[in-house]
Amino acid sequence: MINFKNIIAQTISNVVDVDENEVYNFIEVPTDSALGDYAFPCFKLAKLLKKSPQIIAKEITEKLIIDNVYIDKVQIVGAYINFYINKNTLATTVLEEINQKGTLYGSSDIGKEKNIIIDYSHPNIAKPFHIGHLRSTVIGQALYNIYEFLGYNVKGLNYLGDYGTQFGKIIEGYKLWGKEYNIDENPIEELTKIYVRINELCKQDEKVLEACRNNFKLLEQGDKYCIKLWEKFRKLSLEEFKKIYDLLGGRFDSWDGEASIAPKVPEVLDILEKSGKLLTSEGAKIIDLEEQNMAPCIIEKTNGSSTYASRDLAAILYRARTYDYDKALYITSYEQILHFKQVFEVAKLLGLDEKYTNGLTHVPFGMVLLKSGKMSTREGTFVKLEELLKESINRAKKIIKEKNAKLENEDEVAKKVGIGAIIFNDLYNSRIKDEIFDWDTILNFNGETGPYIQYTYVRINSVLNSNNSKLTINDIDITKLTDKESTEILKILYLYEETLKMVVDKNEPSILARYLISLAKSYSVFYNNDRILVDDERLKNTRLYLTYATGVVLKSGMKLLGIQMPDKM
Ligand code: ARG
Repeated sequence: MINFKNIIAQTISNVVDVDENEVYNFIEVPTDSALGDYAFPCFKLAKLLKKSPQIIAKEITEKLIIDNVYIDKVQIVGAYINFYINKNTLATTVLEEINQKGTLYGSSDIGKEKNIIIDYSHPNIAKPFHIGHLRSTVIGQALYNIYEFLGYNVKGLNYLGDYGTQFGKIIEGYKLWGKEYNIDENPIEELTKIYVRINELCKQDEKVLEACRNNFKLLEQGDKYCIKLWEKFRKLSLEEFKKIYDLLGGRFDSWDGEASIAPKVPEVLDILEKSGKLLTSEGAKIIDLEEQNMAPCIIEKTNGSSTYASRDLAAILYRARTYDYDKALYITSYEQILHFKQVFEVAKLLGLDEKYTNGLTHVPFGMVLLKSGKMSTREGTFVKLEELLKESINRAKKIIKEKNAKLENEDEVAKKVGIGAIIFNDLYNSRIKDEIFDWDTILNFNGETGPYIQYTYVRINSVLNSNNSKLTINDIDITKLTDKESTEILKILYLYEETLKMVVDKNEPSILARYLISLAKSYSVFYNNDRILVDDERLKNTRLYLTYATGVVLKSGMKLLGIQMPDKM
């Protein structure tokens, strides 16, 4: 595809003594398209050229050689030089590229030979899969898809929370009251009840607590009975989690959890010991991080057990060796910011190549709030996730039925719309923001939502199906797409690949979600203003082709977000 930004950078650097790359980096896309398609802010050169931005703008513009093939017009507004690109050239380059690449339009090989690992979803066994795990799953999955589309070699790691002293407790509770609970039927709920009950008992009875600790020790030492129970809990929990992944998606290349890493912790202790930085404090082993203005990182508890942090350190060693990663992303809520800061700091002491420590990246996200406040198990405002997903499907089904009573396979469509609504809502706002969960917003077909994009796509499909969908690029006249509405769509289509690159640059899928909304909105304007079904056959075909191209990108972008498109709804 033609790179307009490059061409503009070249044109400018031809007439001013500044490096082309530097010029390139200064070029902006104005938010108001009345101000051109690209803008060059001259104040960026004021210091270097020792002239006022206005004078620089005037001098550059006078010298610029405008070819009228790529650039139509140049205009000075204040300290900016605004560039208007040639609309025919834009239409040609975009549509030819879509014609050539089809569903691969926007893909790239910038990630060739780069390994990315994404630690995401990571629920805890015998505990509920909560809304935070949902966010992690949705964000992680979108990033997985987008990195992959850009040519990176990606691995998804579901680092299950399947280890820790709490399992000693659950085992004890199970021993005492296992028969009273229907664990096979409803494992997570029942195991959670056992966990709550045994915790209560531990508070009252020191001996029970001791028994729990002992169970955990036995588990670590490989005691057959304890391992058998732990495996049972793990298996039953995974079966529950898989029901959620079936609805939501989630691509995992590894399910190795904390338990598989725990035996590798001694190596970490060894290395840290040798570094001379490992201190003993009140019986625990710690790394002091006062210099970095952080609380110490606890590496080993007083009772000799590993910690969440030391297991993460061991996982870093293991992953560097196993995956040779260039970037390792950790997708968790912002509650773990300090944890990862500490771990990444201590990781510098592990003697790893800098490539691995530099690649460690925490990708934090905000909380999900109900209209009434934070969702939490303790406060009883916890929503069971599978139920939440199913409710969304049911609500979607009701809305769809109202709109189209004759729809076939309505269950399948309702699933795509209901789940799509939840995923899209989760990805639409910048990830670090807390999110308010509200059914009316999520499922609003006219809002900035998943269903709105799906609805636009279905409309596109029906236009194409009722009018010569076998159309090829040879049947159209690209010069007919210079009206405002068409140009707006073409400009957005043009920016697809750049948008995806921005997503991986910031690990921010909301950039893509917002992009898709602006594409769908622009298409709606086009659809309403530019009658597609005009008498002029060639114009009609041309507008149909633009419709097709929009559909390709909407579907591709939604797929990258992890959302399926219905063909009808
Ligand atoms: N299982 C943890 C939780 O539910 C998240 C694990 C995050 N990944 C990691 N490598 N620490 O909070």
